[in-house]
Amino acid sequence: MSFNVRVLSADRFADRVAMVLKERTDEPGQRLCLPTGSTPKPVYATYAAGGGDLTGTTVFLLDEFGLTPGGPARCDAMLDADLLARLAAPPARLVTWDTTTPDLTAECGRMEEEIAEGGLDLALLGIGMNGHIGMNEPGSPVDSRSRVVDLHPATVEGAARYGADEAPAWGVTLGIGTLLESRSIWLLVTGSAKAEILAKALKGPETPQVPASFLRRHGDITVWADEEAASQL
Ligand code: PGA
Repeated sequence: MSFNVRVLSADRFADRVAMVLKERTDEPGQRLCLPTGSTPKPVYATYAAGGGDLTGTTVFLLDEFGLTPGGPARCDAMLDADLLARLAAPPARLVTWDTTTPDLTAECGRMEEEIAEGGLDLALLGIGMNGHIGMNEPGSPVDSRSRVVDLHPATVEGAARYGADEAPAWGVTLGIGTLLESRSIWLLVTGSAKAEILAKALKGPETPQVPASFLRRHGDITVWADEEAASQL
């Protein structure tokens, strides 16, 4: 296990993470898992404004709410609004989730197969207030694969913050096991509200109750935290 914690001042966070992301995506053929939500939003804006270019990159969307497609709280809509629509050109390939299919298990299997074709070079992740990564809610096993999940109340609240006009009961997500197979992982964490859960994830027991604690098993993880989020480390 070797994880680096990079602590940045809040006003440098987006610039610095966008810069390293740009260095990464300037390498052709990258296969990236990207999250959505409030944490990556300023990073994506800075990345796009600074000439970020995904035309050589395959992008996999980390997770998706079981919400009607088209609404603003859908992860595919947030990825589009916060990142893709701001770029000069689309990614080489974009792999998202079809939550309208009657066979969601097959859809999750398709996602696993698409990832298995070349693996993930880098998974960018956020952490939920409840310790989730993606929609791997408390109770998720370390070897979980992509699957349909029931959402924790904190995650449903998150969807409301993103502008959902209905409360999603379920979602689909890459599994913890799937994410741990990524060659590198970057965990992005900002704000004082995340300080306690970040400390639990990095210093507390490794437990399914704090799914992000399993990230410590990975050999190449970088935690990018602003000073407030890192204040209890
Ligand atoms: P947030 O969500 O970036 O909107 O806080 C993170 C998460 O729930 O994983």
